[in-house]
Amino acid sequence: MVASSIVSSLDTLVLDLQATLGQAKPGSVVLTTSFSKEDQLLTWAALKSGVDVDIVSLDTGCLFPATRQTWTETEAHFGCGIRSLEPEEADVAELGALSDIYVDADARKACCAARKIRPLQKACAGKDWWLTGLRKAHSANRSGMDKVEWDAHWGLNKYHPLLDWSDTALEAAVLATEVPVNPLYNMGYASIGCAPCTRPVLPGEDVRAGRWWWEQSSKECGLHRG
Ligand code: ADX
Ligand code: SF4
Repeated sequence: MVASSIVSSLDTLVLDLQATLGQAKPGSVVLTTSFSKEDQLLTWAALKSGVDVDIVSLDTGCLFPATRQTWTETEAHFGCGIRSLEPEEADVAELGALSDIYVDADARKACCAARKIRPLQKACAGKDWWLTGLRKAHSANRSGMDKVEWDAHWGLNKYHPLLDWSDTALEAAVLATEVPVNPLYNMGYASIGCAPCTRPVLPGEDVRAGRWWWEQSSKECGLHRG
């Protein structure tokens, strides 16, 4: 049986989306998904809310096969298409060897810029709202964010409906809604990005310790500047 507190949290989530985005112009809301547990729940809630959302994913060319499999399962599960945004061939051709990202911070940033940031610009073009699955529990940077914030860089409002959700609530909601889950979560991956830049985490490690694990700094690719 699904606990009543989770049913209530899910109802509140759907109502929150309707209240915040109900007046948005048709076609003006983009939801970016990496098929994380957060994004799966957000997709569920957005579709349930009846709000008109453009659901897109950044296919960097470096995704795990398991993430691609989850993408296919997600489209079948929800009966909707998820728009793929890919990098320009010319941008990728300008990059050096992929292995450079481990030894040269500028090469890593250039790879994220070509494969994630510039494709995201296409997703944001003409949009007023960007829905994300960011949560405060992810990192210190994210703990300082507001649920709705104007992002001058992207020129739109970012909206993080799950910002205050705990790990426990998220897990319960994922079970209750029965959304497809990337099998990598059961192999020790706590936060999942591109394959070359994501490793499983060890017990007790920070949730984002497996992202760009060889870097000491921000552990952000530039999508979310904070
Ligand atoms: S990242 O910046 O470190 O890669 P993270 O994996 O925590 O981000 O995901 C946070 C949010 O960024 C997701 O909820 C989603 O909105 C967006 N996002 C991250 N990666 C992708 C992707 N490949 N495609 C679409 N959206 C993404
Ligand atoms: Fe490139 Fe890694 Fe950034 Fe993906 S996360 S775009 S592989 S540097």
